[in-house]
Amino acid sequence: MATVATVAIVGLGPVGLTTAVAFASQGHRVIGFDIDENRRAEVTQGKPPFYEKGLEAGLKKALRQKRLSVVDRMDDAVRGSGIIFLCVGTPSKPDGSMDVGPLHDAAKSVATAWRDEKTRTVVVKSTVLPGTAESVVRPLLQAAGVPFRIAVNPEFLREGRALEDALRPDRIILGVDSPGTARILRALYRSSRCPVLVTDLRTAESVKYATNALLAAKVSLANELANLCDGFGVDYDEVLRGVALDPRINPQFLVPGVGFGGSCFPKDVRALVASGTANGYRPELLEAVLALNERQFARAIAFLEKELGDLVGRRIALLGLAFKGNTDDVRESRAVPIARELIAKGAIVAGYDPAAMKGFSKLVPEVHLVNSVEEALKGADGCILQADWPAFSGLTAKDFRGLMTNPVVVDGRRILDPKKMRGVRFHRIG
Ligand SMILES: NC(=O)c1ccc[n+]([C@@H]2O[C@H](COP(=O)([O-])OP(=O)(O)OC[C@H]3O[C@@H](n4cnc5c(N)ncnc54)[C@H](O)[C@@H]3O)[C@@H](O)[C@H]2O)c1
Repeated sequence: MATVATVAIVGLGPVGLTTAVAFASQGHRVIGFDIDENRRAEVTQGKPPFYEKGLEAGLKKALRQKRLSVVDRMDDAVRGSGIIFLCVGTPSKPDGSMDVGPLHDAAKSVATAWRDEKTRTVVVKSTVLPGTAESVVRPLLQAAGVPFRIAVNPEFLREGRALEDALRPDRIILGVDSPGTARILRALYRSSRCPVLVTDLRTAESVKYATNALLAAKVSLANELANLCDGFGVDYDEVLRGVALDPRINPQFLVPGVGFGGSCFPKDVRALVASGTANGYRPELLEAVLALNERQFARAIAFLEKELGDLVGRRIALLGLAFKGNTDDVRESRAVPIARELIAKGAIVAGYDPAAMKGFSKLVPEVHLVNSVEEALKGADGCILQADWPAFSGLTAKDFRGLMTNPVVVDGRRILDPKKMRGVRFHRIG
């Protein structure tokens, strides 16, 4: 029988909780810990603190089978485990640089709670700049005088399909301090049939940033090309179809829209820009990726103004408040600047999202939240579709014409078929 690992997960956010449920479903024994007491209570009751397809069922099963438990003290998480995953947040500081504070605190409390001579493997799963495991985590463990191994194992799950991605990753990157650490982690991931790259700590940290920088750059490049296509009067989709015939160009992530958001791309690209600049290399291309992303949403509002004139007193439906469909995560959602700008221009904004209304109301309380697409569209002068929820993709010209006072619609995620928008003043970027 394959070995069962005992894994502690520190930080039960989207990454930590999904990882915990995935390991438990693969037969490992998992102990979860989070400093947030409410979060611990919710997870213990089988309620994920955020919306993620399939996670609640997976969590309930893991708790029922007693493969996952949540503890109230870091001591219990450390004592019961052989491998400790650090999955805490690495947010941006106001200057864009990475805030290493939560990781430092988590590693410090692991080191403090480690009271025996058992050798454990500490794995940094949080997205951290190259060198962080060596400069932040390792010294804290060394200072505690505990016998440890250290690794970096960046996470590539996509919110909205997080559990599926964690259960069936398309690659695993293991940055390790020794071949022994690699063996331990390979055994842990034994049921994942995908390429595994074993490398050093800094390279593993770099792979995550390089991936996010490339993906964010693809989105901004697609937006730039689509904006140019708008000027040429050319359909970007047709252009992309032609471009994608070149085997060197993968069309994924080349879909234009109102820009990228979420908890990863903006903060990770900002962190690269800040750390590169601090190290004497200013990454101007990445600066441009961010700058274009910051202003891309304005094109959606400009279309409404072109069609409606002054927006004062106009009622605008904002469909999709999360940063994308299938999640309730509103971090860096493009719905935030869109709503703020519309309100600054005097519009009345009716917002709807299948899952993200609660989180969004804290960010832009002036938006009138409504309970359905129909309610949002009713009497509206304009509509911006901001997130690619499947429920929105079935909207037809009849819906817009039947409900809106002025059927002026911007598809900010390219999920509606323009050929089916007869009678609607319809725009999508590119
Ligand atoms: N969310 C994603 O889609 C995603 C994908 C890949 C990688 N990542 C990276 O993974 C990391 C975690 O992301 P997330 O979205 O889950 O973060 P998050 O901030 O939503 O959740 C982190 C959790 O850690 C807890 N925490 C903070 N300090 C702690 C401590 N000292 N001890 C115990 N718990 C503590 C917080 O209470 C919170 O519940 C980040 O570095 C992120 O960039 C995120």
